Amino acid sequence: MSTLTRTDGSAQHTVAQSLVLDRLHKTYTSRGKTSFEAVKGIELSIEPGEMVALLGPSGCGKTTTLRLVAGLETVTDGDIRIGATSVADLPPAKRNVGVGFESYALYPPLSVRQNLRYGLRARKVRDADQRVDTLAARLEMTELLDHRPADLSSGQKQRVALARALIRNPPVLLLDEPLSHLDAAQRQRVRRELKVLQREFGYTTIVVTHDQLEALSLADRIAVMDGGVIQQFGTPDEIFDDPANRFVADFVGEPNINLVDGVVQRSGGKTFVRVGDAGMLPVTATGVADGRAVTVGLRPQDCHTGVGAEQPALEGEVRVYENLLEFGQATVDVPGVDEPVVVQTPADERLAGGDVLRFAADAGQVYLFDDDSGERLR
Ligand SMILES: Nc1ncnc2c1ncn2[C@@H]1O[C@H](COP(=O)(O)OP(=O)(O)OP(=O)(O)O)[C@@H](O)[C@H]1O
Ligand SMILES: [Mg+2]
Repeated sequence: MSTLTRTDGSAQHTVAQSLVLDRLHKTYTSRGKTSFEAVKGIELSIEPGEMVALLGPSGCGKTTTLRLVAGLETVTDGDIRIGATSVADLPPAKRNVGVGFESYALYPPLSVRQNLRYGLRARKVRDADQRVDTLAARLEMTELLDHRPADLSSGQKQRVALARALIRNPPVLLLDEPLSHLDAAQRQRVRRELKVLQREFGYTTIVVTHDQLEALSLADRIAVMDGGVIQQFGTPDEIFDDPANRFVADFVGEPNINLVDGVVQRSGGKTFVRVGDAGMLPVTATGVADGRAVTVGLRPQDCHTGVGAEQPALEGEVRVYENLLEFGQATVDVPGVDEPVVVQTPADERLAGGDVLRFAADAGQVYLFDDDSGERLR
């Protein structure tokens, strides 16, 4: 990595740059209507060459954030820095950012090849055709080069948009759902190639995705967003194993985390949480008052079975058992708990509806949240 792009553009690599979003705000105002704050003070500090996935529900402000960085929306407040340079007031073309939004910057009268070359010609790249061919082959779109964008399927257009963003080897790359229209097999292959290209060239990248698996596989760190605010920014392991609040715990993880009511109970110098009529689980949270009502988060994957009768656990009747080959999934009615609890069970332990299942989790994997704010209690 890290040779400077020469003035003739012949070098393939650029110096990786950091990207900082500093208390970034965006309020949309339309004439005569009320204004809407879509981005509410986002702070993100992305390392040079790092790939960050922006994950969150529809309408939470992901695209708005990317458009702010790209310069397609004006910043209401705060700053954006690429390396040491503030770019918040620069026009899009001066920011040196590769933008992979659907069909963005594709010129309809030009062929795909001409579209890709167009991005390079302005910078007088000598080996332009070769670069187009190499990149097209890597993104499985060689056969699309002589077509016009209008003649392509949405999945094909998406690969062209991705190539358009990558062709100049920009130091900063912004991708909005770059693989959403590809079929499952191609999505996996292009995803892998995107990761390889990103590593090879050191693009500092934000990729928006709805797909958790895509976020896990692509990203060094994940930013989970809701309501215009970053809820948590961390490695996939941190997001999954140490959720900052109930929203993050609930949004990340498949199947969903179980969220049930509980009451903290201390006995014999240890801390537990009571769940339902007779359930009890160990917790690590020592800062929570005895008797406090809380929301308990328990991931199906963190449950283990084969728990002795003397150990704290939950117990209930299996309502449904699903054999998912590598493991099983039991939906269990625990007395006194409103919603059934989903438990992942070992493959060699086949169950049936009506069986009684006793299960628990390690204290470190039983999360407690404030009933009202959803903040994690530790
Ligand atoms: N030009 C605009 N004018 C007014 N409101 C807007 C504008 N663009 C977006 N919004 C609003 O801002 C909020 C965030 O929109 P945004 O497109 O950033 O969401 P998103 O996270 O990308 O969602 P999705 O996953 O559905 O693409 C939404 O409530 C949307 O209605
Ligand atoms: Mg969007």
